Amino acid sequence: MTQLRPARPDDLDGVMAIETASFPTDAWSRSSMAATLADRDAAALVATEADTIIGYAAVLAPRGASDADILTLAVAQAARGRGTGRELLQGLLTVAAGRGASRVFLEVRADNPVAAALYASTGFQVVGRRPRYYQPDDVDAVVMRLELPVGVR
Ligand SMILES: CC(C)(COP(=O)(O)OP(=O)(O)OC[C@H]1O[C@@H](n2cnc3c(N)ncnc32)[C@H](O)[C@@H]1OP(=O)(O)O)[C@@H](O)C(=O)NCCC(=O)NCCS
Repeated sequence: MTQLRPARPDDLDGVMAIETASFPTDAWSRSSMAATLADRDAAALVATEADTIIGYAAVLAPRGASDADILTLAVAQAARGRGTGRELLQGLLTVAAGRGASRVFLEVRADNPVAAALYASTGFQVVGRRPRYYQPDDVDAVVMRLELPVGVR
């Protein structure tokens, strides 16, 4: 059974294993990930099965700020396609809303239709494009925004 919980500093190895496998050319460094797990303005969640990390996600959502940013989201390849990514995303939105955010932004690679479909079906709308944002691959970023409904805030 899949469970979500806040990430802890000692989750770093499990998170980085998925990060490096999921983002072969532009994975976060271990130190950037460690800093995010420790950042009080951010919130990170892990999804576990039998105490093994199968996914993680993080949002930058300083308390009292109206805008939040999804920082990262990934599910281990063997665990994809059964709802974990959607659960993690919903978990981040709940945290962001609880901290007072009314808008949530994210960037997604223009060559990542799977993630874009998840975001669009959650209600995110395309609001911009950043040419060649992802290096060294030279891939554009699509910027998406979700207005949190009043009931979720
Ligand atoms: C994007 C990612 C996190 C989705 O996680 P997941 O657990 O596989 O996703 P879910 O099973 O919750 O599916 C959520 C939605 O994603 C989309 N999706 C998932 N698998 C898909 C596939 N093989 N083809 C097309 N769309 C797919 C669908 O919209 C799906 O909604 P639906 O089930 O209602 O149709 C996962 O594919 C992943 O880790 N990819 C590599 C890292 C990455 O791209 N992260 C996002 C960076 S912006």
